Amino acid sequence: MGNPTPPSRQAADGSPYPDRSRPTFERDIQRMFGHIAERYDWFDHVASLGNDFLWRPRALGQLDRFRTPGPIRSVLDIGCGTGDLARLVARRYPSARVVAADFTAPMLANAQRRGRRAPEGARVRLARATALHLPFADASFDLVTNAFLARNLSSLPDAFAEMRRVLRPGGTLLTLEITEPTSPVFGALFHAYFDQVVPWMGAAVASEGPYRYLPESLKSLPPRPELVRLMRAAGFPRVAACPQSSGIVTTYLAEVPADQSR
Ligand SMILES: C[S@@+](CC[C@H](N)C(=O)[O-])C[C@H]1O[C@@H](n2cnc3c(N)ncnc32)[C@H](O)[C@@H]1O
Repeated sequence: MGNPTPPSRQAADGSPYPDRSRPTFERDIQRMFGHIAERYDWFDHVASLGNDFLWRPRALGQLDRFRTPGPIRSVLDIGCGTGDLARLVARRYPSARVVAADFTAPMLANAQRRGRRAPEGARVRLARATALHLPFADASFDLVTNAFLARNLSSLPDAFAEMRRVLRPGGTLLTLEITEPTSPVFGALFHAYFDQVVPWMGAAVASEGPYRYLPESLKSLPPRPELVRLMRAAGFPRVAACPQSSGIVTTYLAEVPADQSR
């Protein structure tokens, strides 16, 4: 007889409620995103009060100001969800080959449906993959992006090391994530909404667990200087943290030196 599967945490309504301290964490993250895949986009727009429409394009603007100019021929968007960032990237860099990868099948199915309706969707190839073991050769992308993935990872150092591995010399990593607001007064308002109202909205659509997990996941993310340090330690000497919307989200940008292969 093998070991019994350890129990996963669930919310009162039976929805998945990942717990970082359990060995089932990654499996539970996958189950959680599978559970919310169908309503992910509209819930995201409502819960962010429409700000998510601004954050991804602004992050790409910050990327273009940060990076050393050069052609972008190949891009990996990891944790692509329904593919919003991957399609934006494909529109912005029309000659690039874009791979959008995620480990949750229902999210990829949603990305495929949405891609069929978008002109640039045809240039985005979908792949099922985990950020911790990317199924791509060393130095195969000019740009690696990820949005709202970082706080769901069981190991940030391992994920950054993988992203660094698949980037070419001179390539850039963009990580967009929810962060602590920069002003304490605004932070108090933000937390009242994010920690109390958003879980209540989640419970109203039978997803109490995912939207209780959301504020918990922010608390487990390292603060900006520590995250910058982790990126440097992964082999990116040049890193910038660019807050947006009073710090509710931050765009982390990191560059592989042009003269340094692995
Ligand atoms: C909050 S959603 C963000 C989706 C999209 N990037 C966006 O901007 O809306 C996080 C996504 O990351 C995926 N994900 C979480 N952990 C992952 C991992 N270890 N490897 C690959 N994908 C992962 C989830 O399946 C989910 O689709």
